[in-house]
Amino acid sequence: MKHLLKLMDCTPEEILGILDLADRLKAERKAGVAHPLLAGKTLGMIFEKSSTRTRVSFETGMYQLGGHALFLSSRDLQIGRGEPVQDTARVLSRYLDGIMIRTFAQEEVENLARYGSIPIVNGLTDFCHPCQVLADLMTIREHKGKLAGLNMCYIGDGNNMANSLIVGGLKMGMHVSVACPKAYRPDPKVMAFTEEYPGMFLCTELPMEAAKDADVIFTDVWASMGQEAEKAERERAFAGYQVNAALLAAAHPGCMVQHCLPAHRGEEITEDVFEAHAAEIFDEAENRLHAQKAVLVTVMK
Ligand code: CP
Ligand code: NVA
Repeated sequence: MKHLLKLMDCTPEEILGILDLADRLKAERKAGVAHPLLAGKTLGMIFEKSSTRTRVSFETGMYQLGGHALFLSSRDLQIGRGEPVQDTARVLSRYLDGIMIRTFAQEEVENLARYGSIPIVNGLTDFCHPCQVLADLMTIREHKGKLAGLNMCYIGDGNNMANSLIVGGLKMGMHVSVACPKAYRPDPKVMAFTEEYPGMFLCTELPMEAAKDADVIFTDVWASMGQEAEKAERERAFAGYQVNAALLAAAHPGCMVQHCLPAHRGEEITEDVFEAHAAEIFDEAENRLHAQKAVLVTVMK
C-alpha cells in the first residue's frame, strides 16, 4: 500500500492488516515496549482546516515511532497564497518521507499523490475521513470481538464520515444502514459502490428503520467544517435525526455508540446517550493514535 487516499482504494486484506498492526502497536505501547519503526523519518502535516485529534495523534504517533512530524498550516504555506499543489508536492517530496493532509477537495489529496513521490495520507476531506474510520473499525472489533456480520448504523448527514463508514463497514463484511434526509444523502460515488454489496446496505429517511437491530450506531455533526453558513438550515433539516434513548431502544441490547468528535450535545446526540457511551467514544478517540501509527508504518516503512 503506497498511500491512504480513501478506503475505496484499499483491499479488505489491507484494512485488516492495518487493524492487526494497530492492535499490536497499542498492546506494545501499554506494555511500555518501544517501537521505533520510522526512526529518522519526517512526516509533514498540512492542515487547511482545524483539528484537535488528528493533529495531536499524528504528531505524537510519529514521535512514538522514532520519527518527527512537522505541522504545516495552510495559513503559513505558500499553498495558501496560490502555489500550485503540483509544485508543492514535488518540493515537499524532496524533504519529507510522507505527508498527511487535511483539506477540502479530495482532488487536492489525489493530486499530491499524483505529482509527489512520497506516501500521502488523507487526514480528512469533504469526501472522506479514512483514518477516523480505521480507528472506528478497530474500536468496534475491540469491543465486539469481530466485524463481519455486525449491523452498523449511521444517523445524520451523508458527509465524509458517512462515506467512509459505508465503504469501510461493507468491506469488512458488516451490514450498513444509513438514515439521512433525502437532500443529504452520501456521495453518489459511494452510493454506486454500495451496489456491489446487494442485501448489505440500506439508505432510508427513517432513523428508526436504520437503527433496528444495530450493533453500533454512529452519528456526526450536522454542519461540517466549511458549512458554517448553512448551520440554521441544517438544524431544521436534521431535527429528526438525533441519536437519543428512543432510537437506541430499536437497536440490539448492548449496542455501541460512536462519534468521531467534536460532538454537539443536544443536536446530533443527546447528553445522556453521549455520557452513557463515553467510555466507547473515548476509546474511539484514543484509537486514532494506534490506527494512524499502523497507517504510517504501512505506507512509510
Ligand atoms: N475526529 C477528528 O478528526 O477530530 P479533529 O477534527 O479534532 O482532528
Ligand atoms: N464531518 C466533520 C468531521 C469532523 C472530524 C467535518 O468534516 O467537520
